[in-house]
Order: sequence, then C-alpha cells, then structure tokens
Amino acid sequence: MADPGEWLRRLDRRAELRRQAGLTRTLRSHGPQPDDVVDLAGNDYLGLARHPAVIAAAEKALERYGLGATGSRLVRGSTDEHAALETELATLLRQPAALVFSSGYLANLGAIRAAARPRGVVLIDAHAHASLHDGCALAGVRTETVPHADPTALRRRLAERAGAPALVVTESVFSVDGDLAPLREIHAACRDFGAVLLVDDAHALGVLGDRGAGAVVAAGLAGEPDVVVTATLSKTLGAAGGIVAGPQPLIAHLVDTGRTFVYDTALPPAVAAGALAALELAMDADSLRAILRERARAAFRALRDAGLDPGEPAAGIVSVTAPSADAALAWASACRERGVAVGCFRPPSTPDPRSRLRLTINAGIAASDFGRAVTDVIAAAP
Ligand SMILES: Cc1ncc(COP(=O)(O)O)c(C=O)c1O
Repeated sequence: MADPGEWLRRLDRRAELRRQAGLTRTLRSHGPQPDDVVDLAGNDYLGLARHPAVIAAAEKALERYGLGATGSRLVRGSTDEHAALETELATLLRQPAALVFSSGYLANLGAIRAAARPRGVVLIDAHAHASLHDGCALAGVRTETVPHADPTALRRRLAERAGAPALVVTESVFSVDGDLAPLREIHAACRDFGAVLLVDDAHALGVLGDRGAGAVVAAGLAGEPDVVVTATLSKTLGAAGGIVAGPQPLIAHLVDTGRTFVYDTALPPAVAAGALAALELAMDADSLRAILRERARAAFRALRDAGLDPGEPAAGIVSVTAPSADAALAWASACRERGVAVGCFRPPSTPDPRSRLRLTINAGIAASDFGRAVTDVIAAAP
C-alpha cells in the first residue's frame, strides 16, 4: 500500500539539506519594537509607519469601511481611498495613470504579464527581485537573464534578438545590494531596439527624485510611452500594497485582464488611506531624505573603515558581505543581542552565493541610536 507520509519525509530530507547548508529560516515574532532595539531591518525608510497622521487616516477609514475590502476592486473593493491614492501616485510619478494592487509582488506579476508579448522575449537583470522573476515565469514568455546593471551587455542581447518584441525588466535601487541601475542608458538601449522598459522602483519611491518621486523621475524617464513603473507601498510609505504606473492603455488592460488585479481581494481601504497619508508626508520630507542619505553614507564609511566589505549605497540600503551563510546568521544574531535588528540575506535570497547583512537606513530613529547601532554591527562582525 502507498505510504501517505512519504511526501512529508521528502520535505524533511530537503529541510535537513537546508540546515546543513546554513539556509534554514526562522520566524521570529516580535511585539511593537522595544525601545532598546534599533530597527535597521525594516524598510520604513522615513519612519512613517507609525506616524500619528498615518495611523489617524487609517483609523478613520477602518471605522468607515471595516477591516477588509470584502471583494476585488471590480466587485466590491474600490473605494474613494483607492482612487485618491492612485491619482496622487500618478501625479507624483508623472505618469498618465496608476493602479493599486494588494501587494508589490502582485503588481509586478500583473505588470509583466501585461507588458510582455506572447512571441517576444523578456530580458531581466540578474539581480532583479524574486517577484519580477516570478512575473516572467507566470507570463509564460521566453525569459533571459542579462548581466547586472550592464547596458552594454543589454544592448548586445537586444541586437541579437532584433525582430522579437522585447520587454526589459529591472529594479532601480536593487533590494539586496542597494546599488542603482543606470536607467538612462538602459532606456536608451530599449528605445534603439523598440523594447519596453519596466522598472521596479520599490526602494526609490519616497527616497530618490523630486519630492521622493523615485528613480524613474530622477532619470528623466517619467511619462515616456515605453516605460512602466511598479512599486510597493510597503517600504517608504510604511503600509502595504503595490502600484503599476504608466500609459493609460496599460492600466485599462490591467483593469480588464490583469489576473492579480481582477481575481484578488482589494487592498484594505484603511491601508490605502494610511498609504495616502504617508505619501503626503513623504512628498514634503526633503529633510528626512537628506538625513537618510547622510546616514547611508556614514554607515558605508564606518563599515569600510572597519575593514568590512559594504556596497556603496545609492539610496537607503547598505549591504555588507558575510564570510558564509552560517557566519551571516551568527552576525545577525550577535547584532540582535546588542539590540540592533538587521536583515540577513542568504541564498536563494541573494543573486549569487555570497551571504550579506543588509542595513536598511531609517531617518526616523534618533541620531544617537543610529550611531550606536552601526558601531554595534561592526563590533559584532565575525
Ligand atoms: C524590489 C522589490 N519589489 C517588490 C517587492 C514586493 O513588494 P510587497 O512586499 O509589497 O509584495 C519587494 C519587497 O517586498 C521588493 O524589494
């Protein structure tokens, strides 16, 4: 008789292999961050997640609409809050239109499927986020990985593929190493070969560009008919949800056919309201953006001067190499013991076999806490 538990033993064997490679992941629950823990792990770049105006806006919408959206945007889930958020985001991003999804992950899945052509090719940067890779897989189009942040290599690939409609997919600020894609050069290559460019601006929205409009605006590419922008609302805006922004026909196509839009329960209205309040604060937060930049540079310099190997930050991410996956885990946990929460990135969350600690800079924490936290990360290094 067949063994009904065989598949579970197979999963156990795979878990053992992960354990041996130092790749087990642990869910660590925490309450509201205790005062003595400095958070350099979360993505709340400007410290807006707990801003009183954000909480008040979310509370008001919570009272009005209840907890969940109760249906997809098309069925029951589209509220004034969603519409206002879309209008404000499209204006800030200087795009003709924008559409809110219930996560950045789902926005990426929807955008790639809509922008990729069935008999075309997707060229995706080797360091792109998992949601972008998954978007390519779900789109069911031929996908090729291109060398990281390398417009010359991209141009070569586009030339080889001339004739096939191409979609080029990249992040602006890369989530693991914090470097910035050369968007202007990438777009010039796309334009020369008639390709469409999709940029995930997740780590640049609220951080780079005029009033925090992101890297696409900063690169002067906003509103170009061959550029699509996606972003998550879960980082600088401290909320949840995602957006696709770009030409009107793309947004109309997504409303009609985007599976991760049509068949997904809408972002809760209270979250949309909170995100909108955070967006308004973020647009006026040039001084916080200056603090963020200065802190990122200071952390980079301190790590480098201590003989470590940090990547040069383009925005709010400072990533530093760990000797191994086990060493990264031990380093992160030594940081935690000293009262500093940091991100610990090991394969397969890294684009190569190198494990890293990731410090996400937060302009909202006290300067003395930030300085102490960086010193502690250095002191805890293996
Ligand atoms: C670059 C990038 N894109 C997309 C996402 C997914 O966004 P969300 O968490 O809103 O699903 C993330 C991280 O969460 C990210 O870092």
